[in-house]
Amino acid sequence: MGRGAEYSFVRHLLVELSQDASCVLELGCGAAVYRPLFSSKHYVATDIPNSWYQSKGDVDVFASANQLPFAPESFDLIFSQAALDYMPDTRRVFRESYRVLRPGGRFLVITYRKSVLKRIHRESANTGSPHAGIYTPGDLVEWLQEAAFNAVEVPRPSVYDGAAKQAWIKMTLASIRPLGTVLRMISNWRIVLGTKGGSAAQ
Ligand SMILES: C[S@@+](CC[C@H](N)C(=O)[O-])C[C@H]1O[C@@H](n2cnc3c(N)ncnc32)[C@H](O)[C@@H]1O
Repeated sequence: MGRGAEYSFVRHLLVELSQDASCVLELGCGAAVYRPLFSSKHYVATDIPNSWYQSKGDVDVFASANQLPFAPESFDLIFSQAALDYMPDTRRVFRESYRVLRPGGRFLVITYRKSVLKRIHRESANTGSPHAGIYTPGDLVEWLQEAAFNAVEVPRPSVYDGAAKQAWIKMTLASIRPLGTVLRMISNWRIVLGTKGGSAAQ
């Protein structure tokens, strides 16, 4: 397995959202760290070739999220973690995701807050690794709506409170990482959810 980080708050969300899903698509999967969650489902991990993040076998289908090689209405859940900001045309990614989602399907985007995206952008300019997007969750909601999704930013307290937060704290204690560092890491993330047809879940 290549480089990749798995987060318990994302795991919680994915388990909840995939309960009724049979076909799941990941965009910009890298090491596909969430694959074990979907062992009873048809899970397809996609990415462009990237030897920094991937090892052999991590990617099921090599494809840019801008042009997905799947028939319309093929998936019940699509998700992407820390990858949307690397994709050159966000609006096109949203249109493609809408096309391959079934009616009622969900599209979960886990990304960073704008100041973190700006930092990644600055740093990638020095390394030459292409980084495309600096946006706010509000921009993502607007672009999802343009692509015909019902879209909401997932409010962070409802995600991080309770079990997910406890899991983070446990992880902190186990790894002897300062709690402040972990809480800062949590606060860097932003989550947006699009639903195709029907009303978006809160
Ligand atoms: C920071 S890594 C995140 C990897 C993984 N999702 C994770 O959280 O560990 C960004 C990923 O976006 C992928 N990516 C960049 N451009 C892409 C594109 N046009 N379509 C799909 N994936 C892309 C990269 O190859 C890389 O695997």
